[in-house]
Amino acid sequence: MNILMIGSGGREHALIKKLLESPKCTKLYCAPGNGGISRDAEIVNIGVMDKENMVKFAKENAIDLVFVAPDDPLADGMVDAFEEAGIRAFGPNANAAIIEASKVFSKNLMKKYGIPTAKYEVFDNPDKAIDYIKSENTVPVVVKADGLALGKGVIIAQTIDDAVKAVKSIMEDKQFGDSGNNIVIEEFLTGPEVSVLAFTDGKCVKPMVSSKDHKRAYDNDEGLNTGGMGTVSPNPYYTDEIADECMRTIFEPTIKAMNKEGRPFKGCLYFGLMITPNGPKVIEYNARFGDPEAQVVLPRLKTDLVDICEAVIDEKLSDLDIEWYDGAAACVVMASGGYPVSYKKGIEMFGMDDNGQVGGAIVYHAGTKYENGRFYTNGGRVLGVTATADTLDEALDKAYSAVSKISFEGMHYRKDIGRTK
Ligand code: AMP
Ligand code: GLY
Repeated sequence: MNILMIGSGGREHALIKKLLESPKCTKLYCAPGNGGISRDAEIVNIGVMDKENMVKFAKENAIDLVFVAPDDPLADGMVDAFEEAGIRAFGPNANAAIIEASKVFSKNLMKKYGIPTAKYEVFDNPDKAIDYIKSENTVPVVVKADGLALGKGVIIAQTIDDAVKAVKSIMEDKQFGDSGNNIVIEEFLTGPEVSVLAFTDGKCVKPMVSSKDHKRAYDNDEGLNTGGMGTVSPNPYYTDEIADECMRTIFEPTIKAMNKEGRPFKGCLYFGLMITPNGPKVIEYNARFGDPEAQVVLPRLKTDLVDICEAVIDEKLSDLDIEWYDGAAACVVMASGGYPVSYKKGIEMFGMDDNGQVGGAIVYHAGTKYENGRFYTNGGRVLGVTATADTLDEALDKAYSAVSKISFEGMHYRKDIGRTK
């Protein structure tokens, strides 16, 4: 099969390395990819939002399967565009990707179908939002922009003043552009967070092994929120008992709810959960693999990923038994100095071989460029260094030992992945 991956991060590199294991995959392209991906797949210089040229490329190159990995093209109807052209594509249609693209949609869906989540109100007017915050007078309080905001549209305000400022910066100063035309004001929940990615064909849902993301920039969960600084799988807080409860109260009800709304979801649905004292609740849905969750979940997948994609597209997922390796995986993200605020690009990297790898781990490239046999930084999150082992401790040791072999000016990474709540 000729396969086209759309995207350019560490998640896409992890998907590519897994697709390459499939005997069915004969030719793999990635648009637009990155330096590390260029060592595994043929790079196609088409932007992730360019539906017209993506479809044209797929037709001209006899692509049999397209994998749309990032949120923006999914929300914009990239899968719909391929389907209209008669090309098979993995990922939800735009009308289902809205479960991530609009928090107002997902919160209203959960309320309507009784799926456990934080209590909330929706506002399209800043004065009304501020009146509400003042009348409730409870902190911390969570203020969320409705739309996609590169994972940055959530503000946890510790004081009423900060909450008012958050409303103004989102709705009046348009900090996140039109994503902030509407906002959600939400109850603050506590408890460990768990990421559960699930394959679904719109009929049945098959959760993958669990994982845990470390979102803050620095050790001890200090610093700003990032796209994710590291992950481990399995998540130690996700017991079998909690998994059963999530299946019953969250996963299956969500699939049914989307069908009832006339928006069947096919692809990978990401459940961002919090295990609160009152049971598991949904913090957010994503319409795609998480990044860097994919970097610890996919190395544990035993079943052929191409078979899974086909079963999802053909709505035959219930016939497929998806198998996983026991043990654990850990991923440490190496970031550019200054990330997540501002950072330089184009810094030469040392320690990796010509394929961008080091011994003892898998190096997934996120923001790199490959030129004349050298790797250079090209983004905020640069690498996701992943190792698997029988135990989490061993996986962490292996990942950190691989990290110590790589260097570039200004780099920073967390030293406590897998060690904090
Ligand atoms: P989101 O983009 O919705 O996943 O939110 C980003 C992060 O903010 C989450 O991973 C949580 O750590 C935190 N967060 C979001 N909503 C809440 C909430 N209602 N209570 C506590 N923390 C939250
Ligand atoms: N790591 C969080 C996300 O992919 O949204």
